[in-house]
Amino acid sequence: MTQYLTDASRPVAPAADTAPGAAAASAAEPRGWWRDAVIYQVYPRSFADSDGDGMGDLPGIRSRLPYLRALGVDAVWLSPFYASPQADAGYDVADYRAIDPMFGDLHDADALIRDAHGLGLRVIVDLVPNHSSDQHEWFKRALREGPGSPLRERYHFRPGKGEDGELPPNDWESIFGGPAWTRTNNPDGTPGEWYLHLFAPQQPDFNWENRAVADEFRSILRFWLDMGVDGFRIDVAHGMVKAAGLPDIGGHDQLKLLGHDVMPFFDQDGVHAIYREWRKILDEYPGERIGVAEAWTPTVARTANYVRPDELHQAFNFQYLGTDWDAAALREVIDVSLDAMRPVGAPATWVLSNHDVTRHATRFANDPGLGTQLRTPGDRALGLRRARAASLLMLALPGSAYVYQGEELGLPDVTDLPDEARQDPAFFRGAGQDGFRDGCRVPIPWSGTEAPYGFGPEGGASWLPQPAEWAELSVEAQTGDPNSTLEMYRSALAVRREHPALGAGTAVTWVDGLPEGVLAFRRDTAEGSFACTVNLTAEAVRIPAPGRVLLSSAPAEVVDGAVELPSDCTVWWAV
Ligand code: GLC
Repeated sequence: MTQYLTDASRPVAPAADTAPGAAAASAAEPRGWWRDAVIYQVYPRSFADSDGDGMGDLPGIRSRLPYLRALGVDAVWLSPFYASPQADAGYDVADYRAIDPMFGDLHDADALIRDAHGLGLRVIVDLVPNHSSDQHEWFKRALREGPGSPLRERYHFRPGKGEDGELPPNDWESIFGGPAWTRTNNPDGTPGEWYLHLFAPQQPDFNWENRAVADEFRSILRFWLDMGVDGFRIDVAHGMVKAAGLPDIGGHDQLKLLGHDVMPFFDQDGVHAIYREWRKILDEYPGERIGVAEAWTPTVARTANYVRPDELHQAFNFQYLGTDWDAAALREVIDVSLDAMRPVGAPATWVLSNHDVTRHATRFANDPGLGTQLRTPGDRALGLRRARAASLLMLALPGSAYVYQGEELGLPDVTDLPDEARQDPAFFRGAGQDGFRDGCRVPIPWSGTEAPYGFGPEGGASWLPQPAEWAELSVEAQTGDPNSTLEMYRSALAVRREHPALGAGTAVTWVDGLPEGVLAFRRDTAEGSFACTVNLTAEAVRIPAPGRVLLSSAPAEVVDGAVELPSDCTVWWAV
């Protein structure tokens, strides 16, 4: 058997005095844990189901924490588990201080946070401040009380245009397709005002100009900080402030503008005042609690505004996630990202997959240039090879990295889910740009040869069906196989923890003069140097070996000081 893994030792159990959280915070704790953290995204619906209802839950996650500790991640980010009618898989929150019964209760959350801390894992929760559920008490009262109710000022209610108010107040479109406005009925049943929802109609946008909204979220932050969480991933962090007067956009291709152009509802400068307030609250708590922005902005430089020293700590790098498997494009986005973060002193972050995009093993299996919402499986073997190489590249870069559950198993997207099984609200709103997100949300396989593969009790179901081929991708099937993707991740995270030149940093040194399509960089520190080489071409290439192989995504042999790098392969080197 080919031995891809060398020199990799398993992560060691954390010393008691380095466990995170308020109780453990001490003067001895190293500052800036988040500057190089590997943060693992758990999608609660699809991680582990303790009670067999087909839906993952908090006790399930809790039971699998030792797996995450042994994998070697530093923190866990949980997608929303709050009380919610689940119109958008929990991103429609009805009560920000309660757990949805399908996931458990506050005691389960408390136990989960305590256990995680005991294992040396930090916990980041998802906060959804741009919109609530239409079943949130405030919104229900706003509807009930009718026009003029002060509760309506906490959302964006407006009379319609046209003779009888039959036209929406402006031309904004929902990210999920269709108009961003829905008309309400007055308490007497006659057609009334419209309300704004940038996402589904069940997700009314808050009006952040309203004091009660800002006060409420400061209180929600404290509630969860008091529960012991180590930080927040802030959903639609770029959306809370809308341009004054809610001006029309004009033109008809608004979805295509998203993330590329300045929009009157995204990335408005006013949003930063909110984060300056929040930062003060985070800093009041011991143990370096952090805020992470999910901010879609036109450029990485605009993203850097969210992580200025008095704002949030990290922001997702969606430009990196959106980059094809292409050497020149990757080199450029890496440079641009590091350059953008350096002046504000924030760590760059790297991410390849999450619950909103086609998994990278499937993106890279398809032709480049197709974006992040794919519906075709492509060439699976090619996709997996590239995904493994891409993951090692990502984990070698300076800063913090995000791993989405199941990517450590090399899971592909499930592109052939039956329509009846789908739950993504965008799927039902027609021309949405991302109606196929269920494909990356299929529950992950843990063990056994039949669905639900240890996701839940034997013989049980899972809310989205798992493919038959997933038996061989389970944690059990991959554990101990040195060629498996899971063992590659375990080794990578162990090496990353130990090698002095990996993790935090602000720069890489590119090695030039290599064949086209090969990326190579070094990271040098006084304690040791590291090199990473990536062959993104379809052919093997021979290049000088920069040192001793630490780890590789495919077998790479060094002979007489040169290495034959296979196609789509990354190698880590001790220099
Ligand atoms: C974010 C979430 C996505 C959700 C949307 C609306 O983009 O990641 O899943 O649908 O916000 O809350």
